[in-house]
Amino acid sequence: MKYLLLMLLALSSAGFADDARTLASLPPAAQASLRQEMLDNLLAVNEVLTLFAEGKTKEAGEVAEAKLGMSAMGKHRSQPVEARPGPHMPPAMHRIGMDGHKAASEFATAAKAGDRDKALALLPNLTSGCVTCHFSYRTR
Ligand code: HEC
Repeated sequence: MKYLLLMLLALSSAGFADDARTLASLPPAAQASLRQEMLDNLLAVNEVLTLFAEGKTKEAGEVAEAKLGMSAMGKHRSQPVEARPGPHMPPAMHRIGMDGHKAASEFATAAKAGDRDKALALLPNLTSGCVTCHFSYRTR
């Protein structure tokens, strides 16, 4: 485990020295909304993991659906277009985001049904989208 962490650290610092990620240029307002959404995402992932570890499978599913799943999409819809991250993302980047919401909903469906084994198997998908997008795109 320790070895894996060191390896990831080496990989990610190599990545920073020569950043090959695609630059997605978002207007400042969209970037600010995205950053706030991301901090909320981080909290939500932590909340889901904590509930799941405590054996509160259904609650974990409810939070996952509300804060990370398909139900969490379109949060910026009421804002002017320059403050909405989605429309300014390259289509492939946007798709990673949508797939992430879908994966969270799949986990949520299993967890809400109390199917702990299935939810556990789907749990890593909750963060795969975060990793895929962060390793493919940057905004600055
Ligand atoms: C579709 C792409 C995409 C997905 C999916 C995504 N992120 Fe991000 N994330 C970004 C981008 C782009 C930034 C940089 C925003 C900026 O500062 O301009 C970012 C920034 C962040 C930050 C830093 C916020 C800060 O304080 O500046 C955190 C934390 C974060 N993301 C967490 C997550 C988590 C957790 C998930 C998964 C649940 C996730 N992200 C999924 C694109 C994504």
